[in-house]
This record gives sequence, C-alpha cells and structure tokens, in this order.
Amino acid sequence: MPKQDEQIQRKVEHLFLAEKYFTDESYADFDSIRLLHDAVPELNYRDIDLSTDILGNKFSLPFYFNAITGGSKQSARFNMNLAQLAKKLDIPVSSGSMGVYLRIPETKDTFTPLREYNPDGFVIANVSAKANAAQAQQAIDLLHANALQVHLNVIQELAMPEGDKSFFWLDNIKEIVEKINVPVVVKEVGFGISKDTMQKLIDVGVKYIDISGFGGTDFAQIESARNHEIDLTYLDQFSMSTVESLIEAQPHMDNVTIFASGGIRTPMDVVKALRMGASAVGMSGLVLHHLQKYSLAEATLFFESFAKQIQIIMALLGAKNIDEIKKAPIIFDENLVNYAKQRKIE
Ligand code: FNR
Repeated sequence: MPKQDEQIQRKVEHLFLAEKYFTDESYADFDSIRLLHDAVPELNYRDIDLSTDILGNKFSLPFYFNAITGGSKQSARFNMNLAQLAKKLDIPVSSGSMGVYLRIPETKDTFTPLREYNPDGFVIANVSAKANAAQAQQAIDLLHANALQVHLNVIQELAMPEGDKSFFWLDNIKEIVEKINVPVVVKEVGFGISKDTMQKLIDVGVKYIDISGFGGTDFAQIESARNHEIDLTYLDQFSMSTVESLIEAQPHMDNVTIFASGGIRTPMDVVKALRMGASAVGMSGLVLHHLQKYSLAEATLFFESFAKQIQIIMALLGAKNIDEIKKAPIIFDENLVNYAKQRKIE
C-alpha cells in the first residue's frame, strides 16, 4: 500500500476525528418528537416481530451499519471487526467510499475483510457520485456486494482542503441506476436531503434514498479540523436534521423507499425514524464508537440490548411488527410544525 498517499491519510484522520468528536448527544431533532403509548396494547412482548425488508431481503432487525471506512491499515482492522459484528447481528453493512480502491487497487485488502469475515452477509459497496457505472461495477465486484450506495457529499468536499470543486453528478447517477443490476441507494453523508433534491434523484430513476441527516457525525467539523487555512464548520448550517429530512421525504414516500440515518444514538431514535416512514435505519458514528472503544464481544452485547429495547418500545406502542409502528400517535414540537409549514409539507 502506498504510504504517503493523501487520500489514504485522509481515511486515517476521518476515523480518528469522527471518534474524537463522537458524543452520545444527538442533534438530529428526535427529541422534538413524542410518540404516545397505548395503555391497552393487547399483545405479548415475546410475539413482537422486528423483521424488516431491506432492499428486497428479509432481516430480523430494522437497522444496518452505514458507510464508514476503507483505504488505510486502520480501516482494514476496523472493517474486520465491523463485518463480524454485522454477521453476529445478521444486518446489512456498508463499505466506506471505494474511490481510493478505484484509484489505488493495492488498497483492496482494506475493504475485502467486509466480505471475508461475513461471507454470506449482505454487504453494500460505496462510491461517490462522480463514479461512472463501470467504476461502480468494479467496486461491487470486489466485495461481491449485494447492493450499492452512491454518496452525495457537496458540503464535505467544499470544506475539505483537497476536495472536489465541480459537481455534475446526475448523469452519473442516471447511468449507474440504469446499468447496475443490484439495488442502488443514493445517500448523503450527514447533512440531509431536501424534497427538491429528492425529486431530482427520482427524476433520474433513483428508487432508494438514505437521507442521512444532520445530528451525528459532522463532516464540516471533521474537515475543518483537517483544514489549517480556513474554518468552514459553519457550512453545517445548510444541513437538514434527520427529522427535518424525514419531513422533506413525506411527499415522496409513494415513489421512493426512504432509509434514515444521521445521529442515531438510541433505540427510541430508531423507532421514531421508522414511525416517520423510514424503511430501515442506519448508524455509523455509534458503531464506530463502540468498536473503537470496546471489544467486539462488548459491542455485540450493546447492539443486542439495543434491539431488545426497540422491542420494548414497540410493546408500549402496541406495535406487533415494524409496519404497525407507523400507526403510533406522533406529536411534533412547534419548531418542526413551523418547519413543515414553511416548506409546504402536510
Ligand atoms: C462516514 N460516512 C461515509 N459515507 C459514505 O457514503 N461514504 C464514506 O466513505 C463515508 N465515510 C465515513 C467515515 C466516517 C469515519 C464516518 C463516521 C462516516 C458517513 C456515514 O455513512 C453517515 O452518513 C454519517 O456519518 C451520518 O451518520 P452517523 O455517523 O451520525 O450515524
């Protein structure tokens, strides 16, 4: 692996800085929503079914591990643990951006642990929206991936000293959606997606969107920490929180499948995102933190308990399965009502 490469060094810094800034507090607006319990739920907790369809496959839990890393030696070790955790929980797991592999094929061994340690699991390849269909296919082939994520990261690129400055992405996305024969998810990286942007994606044929909103990992902050010339942390003000992005998604729910991520910290956040129409919920910062700070066995216990708590919350809502969560009464605070009103979303 080339030692002095800037792109590889960036991966090392991302892992380090994301963990450095990790906090248990989320700013994803989930605290601005309440769900009301059913005092006569008429169910047995043990019968509650958490199984969920994710990208055409049935999983026993409604969450997945979202894109994190690849490219550096540290990434290889991390991906090995992440793959084993995903295998134990039987949930989908994404690779970090494979742009570095497309440019420097010798970095392939930093991505392949995701498949080696989870041979029968659901693995998602990840490329940037500047990749074309042939490159996306190369990324899929390396991991024998079951699906592809294409990330949108304009705020991150502009906050990054060495970032891209040109953003013509829709033609690539259209080509990828037309030519790639695994499900293609277009995702943000933690700044959310507006209803207007969603419409542009739907118009080029996108069927799956991960809104990945603001509230957890903040790449304006991370890239500004790497940028010794200017502090562009304030660019995160352009973001939409995960809850705001889910509000933005409401007019499109019939035309596109929505995944939610960004600042997911608790089982309550997962249930609230599902209540707002997400078909499953993704986490990066939280799993990164648990695998960096604790052993694989401890991280497994944490996420098993996390799943159990989703089940407890569902019992309180009288929801026997994930679909029934969508019937739970929901209350938005004034700020969110005002947000929806100004955005003309019912
Ligand atoms: C990311 N994320 C990300 N996303 C992506 O599509 N490609 C990538 O290469 C990366 N790289 C990456 C590195 C690190 C260290 C982190 C923590 C995250 C973004 C990630 O998938 C997600 O969209 C955001 O992190 C928001 O979710 P959390 O972290 O708040 O749960």
